Amino acid sequence: MKLQSRIPEILGIRYPVVQGAMSWMTDAAFVAAVSNAGGLGMLGPHAGQTANPTSNEEVIERMRAEIRKVKSLTGKPFAVPVMISENPALIVPMRDLIIEERVPVVLINVVLDADLFRAFKDAGIKIIYRALNPTVESAREAERLGADVVVATGFDEGGTLPDKEIGTFAVTTHIAQAVGIPVMSAGGIADLAGVRACFALGAEGVYIGTAFLATHENRMAANVKQMLVDCSADDLLLFRTHPAYYRSLPTELAKKMYEISENGGSRDETAKLMQGTVGMRKGMLEGDLAGGYISVGNGITQIKEIRSVQALIDDLMQDFAA
Ligand SMILES: Cc1cc2nc3c(=O)[nH]c(=O)nc-3n(C[C@H](O)[C@H](O)[C@H](O)COP(=O)(O)O)c2cc1C
Repeated sequence: MKLQSRIPEILGIRYPVVQGAMSWMTDAAFVAAVSNAGGLGMLGPHAGQTANPTSNEEVIERMRAEIRKVKSLTGKPFAVPVMISENPALIVPMRDLIIEERVPVVLINVVLDADLFRAFKDAGIKIIYRALNPTVESAREAERLGADVVVATGFDEGGTLPDKEIGTFAVTTHIAQAVGIPVMSAGGIADLAGVRACFALGAEGVYIGTAFLATHENRMAANVKQMLVDCSADDLLLFRTHPAYYRSLPTELAKKMYEISENGGSRDETAKLMQGTVGMRKGMLEGDLAGGYISVGNGITQIKEIRSVQALIDDLMQDFAA
């Protein structure tokens, strides 16, 4: 099969595959490995860290150090999200950091702000736009403001889930028909068939989180990597929380949150137990299957082994190999 995409040329990469930001689960070595393998690596919140920061300044300086590490490990493009915390006060310092450090690609994952888009455009930085709740209107507005690529994220994804339970197939089709810029699909994509399916629906690339966790270079705890291989989407527990839903592999904490949610408990209650992404750090980074949760997408059924980042990308992108 021969697939076409404008994305490699636009972003300066070999293959139209982006490794999405993942709280706690990225670091410079992993991100550089993705970029060196021909995809686009992306740092995420708490990249390279094992403990929460104590100030906004520390967030920025930690991220600056991690960006510099990536640059020392690869000459290839990589990306950084402009919103790495729910704290809106960090958006401007993150914008300035990304521009100062000449990060090649930015993920705009915040409100559609014309000045923010303009600042990155003026600095020659490529823009990927990804809404948490993808709509035709926001995709069109991002295109108008100058986004280079837009991500259509379905409810099958890992991480913070969209408010509406619309799967990756429906979202991709809807958004690909609405904009002229290339669309990447996100949510549940973990094998070659998934990549081909997204392209059949009009996508020109794939934006993947979970499948990249199942690689040697990812910093996820070894026991959790094994759990990822052993489980299927059928094992995932979906629960209501803030802002909408999360899903997790069946840890003790996840079972508790699932039960609260199933029995009509409040979203405040599950949110309190999650402790924001602290529960993710415990579960995924520290491998604490009692006190943490493991946020992954529905694509885990397709994950059968732990591979190198290169082997994963070569497998997913075989239709693009020269
Ligand atoms: C553990 C985990 C943490 C995530 N954290 C973030 C985040 O901090 N910011 C963000 O924009 N997206 C985050 N995401 C979403 C991913 O960037 C991406 O959209 C998603 O993983 C795609 O779906 P998939 O996991 O099914 O491939 C996270 C995903 C996972 C699995």
